[in-house]
Amino acid sequence: MSLPKNNPTETQAWQKLREHFYEVQFVKMQELFKENPTRVNDFNIVWNDFLVDFSKNRITGKTIDLLVQLAEDVDLKAGINALLSGETINETEDRKVLHTDLRKKPENQTEEVAAALKQMQQFTESVILGDLKGSTGKAFTDVINIGIGGSDLGPKLVTEALADYKNHLNVHYISNIDNDTIECLKNKLQAETTLVVMVSKSFTTLETISNADIFKNWLLQNGLKTQDHIVAVSSNIPEAVKYGIETQNIFPMWDYVGGRYSLWSAVGLSTALSVGFANFEKLLNGANKMDQHFANTPFKENIPVILALLSIWYNNFFCFETEAVVPYVDKLKMLPAYLQQVIMESNGKSVDRSGSPVNYETGTIVWGEVGTNSQHAFFQLFHQGTKIIPTDFIGFIKPFYSSDLHDLLMANFFAQTEALMNGKEGNYHTDDDTDKNAVYKEFKGNRPSNTILINKLTPESLGSLLALYEHKTFVQGYIWNIYSFDQFGVEYGKVLANNIKSELQANEIKKHDCSTAFLLNHYLKNKSE
Ligand code: F6P
Repeated sequence: MSLPKNNPTETQAWQKLREHFYEVQFVKMQELFKENPTRVNDFNIVWNDFLVDFSKNRITGKTIDLLVQLAEDVDLKAGINALLSGETINETEDRKVLHTDLRKKPENQTEEVAAALKQMQQFTESVILGDLKGSTGKAFTDVINIGIGGSDLGPKLVTEALADYKNHLNVHYISNIDNDTIECLKNKLQAETTLVVMVSKSFTTLETISNADIFKNWLLQNGLKTQDHIVAVSSNIPEAVKYGIETQNIFPMWDYVGGRYSLWSAVGLSTALSVGFANFEKLLNGANKMDQHFANTPFKENIPVILALLSIWYNNFFCFETEAVVPYVDKLKMLPAYLQQVIMESNGKSVDRSGSPVNYETGTIVWGEVGTNSQHAFFQLFHQGTKIIPTDFIGFIKPFYSSDLHDLLMANFFAQTEALMNGKEGNYHTDDDTDKNAVYKEFKGNRPSNTILINKLTPESLGSLLALYEHKTFVQGYIWNIYSFDQFGVEYGKVLANNIKSELQANEIKKHDCSTAFLLNHYLKNKSE
């Protein structure tokens, strides 16, 4: 089945949402809470060890009814079924989209997924136990993951998020082509106890191959056999073999798994090395639970669906251009960067599924940073700026190591959403003019947020959280009538960079627009001086 091609703005629900928006656009959440002191009961979802409170949004019951009607008008249920049953919904690349297959329970796994997981398990266990050794017979102490985009962000995020589950192996991530970082890492490590994991679905990505070349030479300079120290994860096995990787050291990836959705596959090898295969399986299991929730829960209680609809409400009706994600735990520092790829590479599209330019906004801009750090950086703008930034606050009830400090962290977590919603009145409009700065101290509140409160950051809950955002992204792309699983814009950049690289190497700049030619010539002229 190909996905339906409905312009969402032509649905009945969209028209009604537009009218409803004019009715409620100036309504203050503070008033809604006053009118209905049990409002939170209408707008929260409790699922497993997740509590999602979405009551601090500029919504009424009617808003949710209409948003759900929008999902129904475009037959979101059919879209979810098409995704989960492996229809070829990545039509522009003629591919299925089956990252959810990677996290199915063993009894439901396909043979190739089961075989790849077995291969990962055997390999990670033998490296962790020290049975598999480098050329000089020493066990590995360090792992370098070389990859970029989806071949880096997801695995790196999970490795950092599960730092408390880490074993003795130290996993390092190299993505950018920044030689200073590479030199720094080489100086820190012993080549003979280092394992390199090259991760590239295409095995043609300039950054990854160039960085791998440097580490390959480093291993050779240290008198080591590269086949004892480099393994690869790729769907382009011939190219990996050509690079000198032995077939048994190549872990598969498949066309039906997009780079930004691939951390669940062997792309997660470095993560599994860091935390052990059993924890990697728990991560998959947590994601699978979210898949079940997404597939089987009515839209009104369906976390990814509700979060996606709220985001559409702000993006397409209020015209708020960005949204933030603020996790209150340092271990999720990478989450905003990871979500930027998932969300913006997926839904940064302006042509609809019929091939016409869209006449409405699509992909939101997502950004963020951990709390409380972000409170001391950009929250001033959240509270008093002219822009409204709907924000997801993500917090955990139990820290890994119990400590009184956690209450302090969480006090901030709760205080921010309260302040954003309620604001604070100044007293400048009274006769009391004792504080000449009162006008500057007022903040009006009415700034929306979702609170995602999770029991504890574990491999399982992390899997569920990441799958939640994947599905949220899918729902939005589906409703916006765009193709969420290609990324032609990024690929074009890769082609141009390759061309320019050849020109720089040949010291000869070819035909470009005058700005690019000017910059390239300036670079060439000055780099050798
Ligand atoms: O950044 C663009 C992109 O195509 C991503 O989709 C992908 O995750 C990344 O490049 C890396 O690609 P590869 O895994 O093929 O090296």
